[in-house]
Amino acid sequence: MTKPRLYSGMQPSADSLQIGNYIGALLQWRELQSSYDAYFSVVDLHALTVAQDPAELREKTRRTAAQYIAAGIEPSLSTLYVQSHVRAHAELAWILSTITGFGEAGRMTQFKDKSARYGADATSVGLFTYPVLMAADILLYQTDVVPVGDDQKQHVELTRDLAERFNSRFGETFVVPRPVIQKDTARIYDLQNPTSKMSKSAESDAGVLWMLDDPAKSAKKIMRAVTDNEGSVRFDREQKPGVSNLLTIYAALSGRQIGAIEDEYARRGYGDFKKGLAEVVVNEFEPVRARALELLDDPAELDRILAANAARADEVADATLAAVYDRVGL
Ligand code: ADP
Ligand code: NA
Repeated sequence: MTKPRLYSGMQPSADSLQIGNYIGALLQWRELQSSYDAYFSVVDLHALTVAQDPAELREKTRRTAAQYIAAGIEPSLSTLYVQSHVRAHAELAWILSTITGFGEAGRMTQFKDKSARYGADATSVGLFTYPVLMAADILLYQTDVVPVGDDQKQHVELTRDLAERFNSRFGETFVVPRPVIQKDTARIYDLQNPTSKMSKSAESDAGVLWMLDDPAKSAKKIMRAVTDNEGSVRFDREQKPGVSNLLTIYAALSGRQIGAIEDEYARRGYGDFKKGLAEVVVNEFEPVRARALELLDDPAELDRILAANAARADEVADATLAAVYDRVGL
């Protein structure tokens, strides 16, 4: 029996991923990769929608791929590749852009937010058509399932609309994918600002735990994490966002229930709790970091893996693109 197909990706927008990416995406990908025919992409074409230094972009792309592998995405089990290595993404995006309404694209809230922030002249057309490229990413592989965060749900809805529209105009061509929204318990917040999500592109990184950081540095950031004056280790997202966030991280990385962790620290202070969490974080990321650095130390091996995986992706993507060209009359 063939496995259902799954597609997901991340932008290479920093030298290191942050642990929100790990808990909210990579851990799930790792779990899903054996029951799905999974495609995991480093979406470097998407990264171009904001200004990039060419050498830095290339480096961040390699580092992101290395971190996928270090986090347990198996390049022999999943197809783990760099988006720009597969030409069909850009080609299908063009075709899909011709069946996307201008108003329809303009209603994407992520575009509205970003363009309002940057201003019209600093907003590229690429940022506007970003969701169309994302639709191409997904539809090229005849994807059944797309695991995404809340913020990408609207883009997956657009992808579904485009797939249905194409199918009804030109004949059945695309699988219509469905989004799987990450669990709320997998959402990690900034340690210094525990009501906004931890992000690679946060203004200050004092509250960001990087996957590739020196473990001692991460431990220090945890010891300095914002809590509250109550002094009890208790989950309450509304009243105690800081402590709740630390509990979420603890539970996600240790595999334990939040209740059990609350019990363990019931009569102990935040200092002990943070020390315990720091230990969990260091234990989790020490080997991940070591493996990523090892991969980055052997560029030829990483190139070989990425080339072999891109070739696999190419095969599937080219077949879809050939069908699309045929249907539209190219
Ligand atoms: P970032 O803000 O770090 O650049 P992205 O928005 O590029 O992250 O998201 C990449 C993936 O990581 C998505 O699947 C997203 O849901 C997940 N992710 C990012 N930040 C977090 C977080 N703080 N908590 C949980 N998941 C996250
Ligand atoms: Na798989």
